[in-house]
Amino acid sequence: MAALISPHGSDALNPLYVAEPARNAVLSEQAESLPSITVSSAAASNAVMMAAGYFNPLTGYMNKEDALSVAENMHTKSGLFWPTPILNLLEKAPAIGPRQQVALRDPNVDGNPILAIMTVDAIERFTDDEFTSMTQKVFGTTDPNHPGVADFTSQGRVALSGRIQVLNYSYFPSEFPDTFRTAVEIRQDIEKNGWSKVVAFQTRNPMHRAHEELCRIAMERLEADGLVIHMLLGKLKPGDIPADVRDASIRKMVEVYFPPNSAIISGYGFDMLYAGPREALLHAVFRQNMGATHLIVGRDHAGVGDYYGPFDAQTIFDEIPDDALKIEIFAADHTAWSKKLNKVTMMREAPDHEKDDFILLSGTAVREMLGEGKAPPPEFSRPEVAQILIDHYRQQS
Ligand code: ADX
Repeated sequence: MAALISPHGSDALNPLYVAEPARNAVLSEQAESLPSITVSSAAASNAVMMAAGYFNPLTGYMNKEDALSVAENMHTKSGLFWPTPILNLLEKAPAIGPRQQVALRDPNVDGNPILAIMTVDAIERFTDDEFTSMTQKVFGTTDPNHPGVADFTSQGRVALSGRIQVLNYSYFPSEFPDTFRTAVEIRQDIEKNGWSKVVAFQTRNPMHRAHEELCRIAMERLEADGLVIHMLLGKLKPGDIPADVRDASIRKMVEVYFPPNSAIISGYGFDMLYAGPREALLHAVFRQNMGATHLIVGRDHAGVGDYYGPFDAQTIFDEIPDDALKIEIFAADHTAWSKKLNKVTMMREAPDHEKDDFILLSGTAVREMLGEGKAPPPEFSRPEVAQILIDHYRQQS
């Protein structure tokens, strides 16, 4: 059997979770006597991603120099390709010195249990200019109305950098026992299935027919062995469909409409950045780490509002060095149901079509319909998926 695609930046995956139970127990006990800090949700989700092997080969939070370098030219000072700063940002510099150990407490779990032990390398403050420039480079905007910018800029300006050892995966395994998976586990599943060409589908939304068909088209054209539907399980902006509802709707869709054993349904514990192109690159890095050879990047991937051009998240892959990543993207055009062809198609492949020849519904229109208990047309949403979403909106009202 062919070896799986190698991880980013190293030959083997180096997850930062302390997997050996006895060692984990000892460290967890020792951590209780360390000075401790409750970190931001973003920093906690960075730790979970590093724990799970998704952020291989990082060994901890970036220092200021690396964060600025990554924002500026997508490489760390040592030359590693990396698209977004991975930071532990605090409001105030803690009263600890370099090389001291500190316990990082989880802001997302009751009682703020210890998530990780950090060996502090540096405590550095970003100037306002540095922070603004970093925000602009990563998000393409500093508009506080951008949900990712709002979250990033709310986190403080003091970067605590250094190695981490992660003791648990936060709330993800208990809230999403069937869906939360580490990069290590997904590699194992891919291997077990005997797949070598593997397509990853990133999502933070329920999957409607366009998404379903996008996966099918990518699988067929790439002659892939399998699909990994890989959903974000961390924090989202208000108004986005919660992860558990999305999960249920995707599971139903796969159960009814996909051949058995053709898709792995899984998720990762990270807060959405809404950073469009830069986040698409990050998505590619961590899908390579979980063993995928291809990532679907469609229209407005990881975008929000009108901050990014609809295909900026594809063209950014042309701007990075050829050897930056091993994973490739499957760049998809806007996909929708064609009334002329009676099927879902990519628009660029139907040049004789006018806009009206497609069934196009805005996110707002779909939300309104579902909120009124009405299913979108079956050409747009599978009825089973629509029902799960209608039930969700009914419970909310
Ligand atoms: S994302 O923030 O996770 O990217 P979403 O869950 O909406 O958002 O999209 C998942 C993937 O499907 C992304 O690659 C996105 O570009 C793609 N996508 C969503 N809708 C369409 C569409 N109608 N046509 C083409 N690609 C789409």
